[in-house]
Amino acid sequence: EKGNYRHFMLKEIHEQPIVVAQTLKSYLRPLEEQVALPDMEFDLSGVTRVSIVACGTSSYVGMVGKYWIEQFARVPVEVDVASEYRYRDPVLEEGQLALFISQSGETADTLAAMRHCKEAGITTAGIINVPTSTMAREADLLMPTHAGPEIGVASTKAFTCQLAVMAAFATNLARAKGRLPADEEREIVRHLQEVPECMNAALEREDVIEKVAAFVAKARDVLYLGRGPDYPMALEGALKLKEISYIHAEGYASGEMKHGPIALIDETVPLIVLAPSGPLFEKTVSNMQEAQARGAQVVLISDDTGIDEAGNDVIEYVRMPKVHPLIAPLVYAIPVQLLAYHVAVAKGTDVDQPRNLAKSVTVE
Ligand code: F6R
Repeated sequence: EKGNYRHFMLKEIHEQPIVVAQTLKSYLRPLEEQVALPDMEFDLSGVTRVSIVACGTSSYVGMVGKYWIEQFARVPVEVDVASEYRYRDPVLEEGQLALFISQSGETADTLAAMRHCKEAGITTAGIINVPTSTMAREADLLMPTHAGPEIGVASTKAFTCQLAVMAAFATNLARAKGRLPADEEREIVRHLQEVPECMNAALEREDVIEKVAAFVAKARDVLYLGRGPDYPMALEGALKLKEISYIHAEGYASGEMKHGPIALIDETVPLIVLAPSGPLFEKTVSNMQEAQARGAQVVLISDDTGIDEAGNDVIEYVRMPKVHPLIAPLVYAIPVQLLAYHVAVAKGTDVDQPRNLAKSVTVE
């Protein structure tokens, strides 16, 4: 039921602090100040390579996971969309863990890729939302998300719950590989516990986002920029906007803009910049200024520090709570989802049932 919400998508966006807390609850051991995974029949310390395979929004969780796993566990990660992975004759080798991410657990390409790996004797793991799904049954290690049923076709709460599980997985792998001192793990647990509260703070920015949406709704094209783990969030922002508002949008790594897309920039193209303050902030700001010099209308999504430093010439800023870089993707998901939602509402599209899309893509 939609309750007091106009659409399932809006309800599901607002449910995120609760369902992410629920998901984290099954992966955090607050007393031990540790992160835990479900029991498994293989030894994580033997994993020498991780292949992450998924489609669409779920594949962006994989891209964020690559940053986290490589940073914390120092294990190399490859990320593929399932339709490419299954047909590209990937190298499969001992020590490899193949990790599949899917809300439905039924996506045809992702399932086929999982079966391909299993047949080759590769250990498989799944971050899956629907507990009764085929992938949930077939994965060697099931890491469930506890987002509950997701009705809106555009994935929102399943996505952030997948990110929460990915953070737990990366942390566990790092410990298993002897790369995570107890005090660092304690810090990670603490930051993950802050996520629901930070998500609530982000949800409180909905009024500003509605203002931004009125402006974005007039555009024909929109660009999203982000760096590091916020680069996949730029991709996610662009995908959400495309699928429910039918406005053309692209996500880019901030540093890539000058390698082509800057040619598109003029005063009619809103530029949404996802930039929590941190070590890479200056670099993103200089990319943003290059675009502003060419007339770009920038919407800056950042925190107090970032807005103080770079919020002057933007047409609007969206103030996020200051968060640890690890949890930024979970929190910055909220404004990109809300923006897509409010642009779609402003355009009068069918938010919960966008044209041509199906909730579960069971044919390739
Ligand atoms: C976008 C969206 C899709 C799905 C994709 C994979 O909002 O929902 O891109 O993420 O079809 O679906 P699952 O996660 O069910 O495998």
